Amino acid sequence: VASHALERHLVLVGFMGAGKTTVAEELHSRIGRPVIDVDFVVERDTGKTIPQLFADEGEEAFREREREVAARLLRSVDRYVLAFGGGAVESPLLHELLREQAFVVHLDVDLETAWRRVHGTDRPLAQDESTFRQLFERRAPLYETVADARARDADDVVLAAAGVHVEAGSLARLGDLVPGEDAVALVTEPRVAGIYGADAQLALGQRLAEVHELAAGERAKSVPEVERLWRALKIRRSGTLLALGGGALTDAAGFAAATYTRGVTWVPMPTTLVGQVDAAIGGKTAIDLPEGKNLVGAFHWPDRTIVDPALLETLPPQERRNGMAEVVKTGLLAGVPLWELPEPELVRRCAAYKSGVCLGDPLDRRERRTLNLGHTFAHALEAAADFELPHGEAVALGLLAALRLSGRDTKPVEDVLAPKRVRVDRERAWQALLRDKKGPLNVVLLGENGAFVAELPPQGVRSALHELIAG
Ligand SMILES: NC(=O)c1ccc[n+]([C@@H]2O[C@H](COP(=O)([O-])OP(=O)(O)OC[C@H]3O[C@@H](n4cnc5c(N)ncnc54)[C@H](O)[C@@H]3O)[C@@H](O)[C@H]2O)c1
Repeated sequence: VASHALERHLVLVGFMGAGKTTVAEELHSRIGRPVIDVDFVVERDTGKTIPQLFADEGEEAFREREREVAARLLRSVDRYVLAFGGGAVESPLLHELLREQAFVVHLDVDLETAWRRVHGTDRPLAQDESTFRQLFERRAPLYETVADARARDADDVVLAAAGVHVEAGSLARLGDLVPGEDAVALVTEPRVAGIYGADAQLALGQRLAEVHELAAGERAKSVPEVERLWRALKIRRSGTLLALGGGALTDAAGFAAATYTRGVTWVPMPTTLVGQVDAAIGGKTAIDLPEGKNLVGAFHWPDRTIVDPALLETLPPQERRNGMAEVVKTGLLAGVPLWELPEPELVRRCAAYKSGVCLGDPLDRRERRTLNLGHTFAHALEAAADFELPHGEAVALGLLAALRLSGRDTKPVEDVLAPKRVRVDRERAWQALLRDKKGPLNVVLLGENGAFVAELPPQGVRSALHELIAG
């Protein structure tokens, strides 16, 4: 079973009326891959509509053409989002190719909804309700056979494609949710171990082989801490490292997983809001050096990311505020007020947004850079405050500056995050910003059609930074 779609085609299967074409179109903007509808290619190749093909050549001939097109696309080197016709999975010949080349998501729909959506159209197999029902029942198990995951909407598809599982209560199901069957090394930190360690161990049952703790918070992200972990780990290359904790813990443990025996599979289970909507998603791992944060690291995509929003119940208020700053950033980038949603849904939608961007640009060369909205200013303020300023407060201020430079309304940031100007040395903050950039002053701005990176004249950036500083 494939665990994500990073290096595979993302294939949508499902019954007529499940919404495959609509969801596939949305996926184009979410993960930036070309989207191809197999039925459309068959129609283009033959110059006939599907009802015409059924009438002229019969269903079997149509299936043959459909199979040829699907196989051709699955064998191509470029990675696509492919929407399969409802009946394509009836061909066992395609099952093997799907297993080798694709991550398959079953877009689920119930019979009543499907019938409501398609009856009265010219779809040849949707003319009679009882035939429709029989077909539904015959195909349902086939979708389950070929699917690596199930989804009900585009956010679910993006999450599944990134290998992100969001479910309140998933801590208790860790034994089933950590992929594979081999030994698991649990890596956590003292505070999280005190609250959730026993439940995690119980849920892993027989698979739990070893338990390790790194220092709490940012101190985990250091060479001595990771070295201690490297030397203590016993799992073999077939084992899995499970990282349970906030963003600092998953960054450090993920880096250990990327490097130990040249890489073992890993599963982050983030326990902070920052981790659930941001840090644990997208495969970036890192540790700090005395010269700066995140200076050593690796891209190492997790086999699965397990997000249990129920774990946020014990999160201290300041940590929640840090997370809300990333939630507001995500909502601004997505163009949707995600910060207004209730918590489990807020986590699901934000995690899905980040998953989509990272799937489209896993190595941070293009659009993933837009996730830094506000962060240039935030880093400069944090450095000028000797890292005494909570990250969320710095990001809130940074978002203000980014929105002002973009000529956009700052109200969402003021209403939700209520940022307060900080008292730091202006010149120090400016020098820190220049050091962070080390070249042209590229700043992420928010346009009408989303975020983009722009090189700005120093004077404007400097006054935007100064506006965030009190006194
Ligand atoms: N890799 C990435 O893409 C990425 C993205 C964003 C941030 N980050 C990194 O994430 C780190 C910040 O992560 P963070 O904000 O999660 O902070 P953190 O990991 O330092 O955790 C904050 C505090 O919360 C405690 N805690 C964690 N979960 C808890 C829970 N459920 N209940 C009670 N207490 C809990 C921890 O013990 C810690 O004291 C930074 O190092 C940053 O560089 C990485």
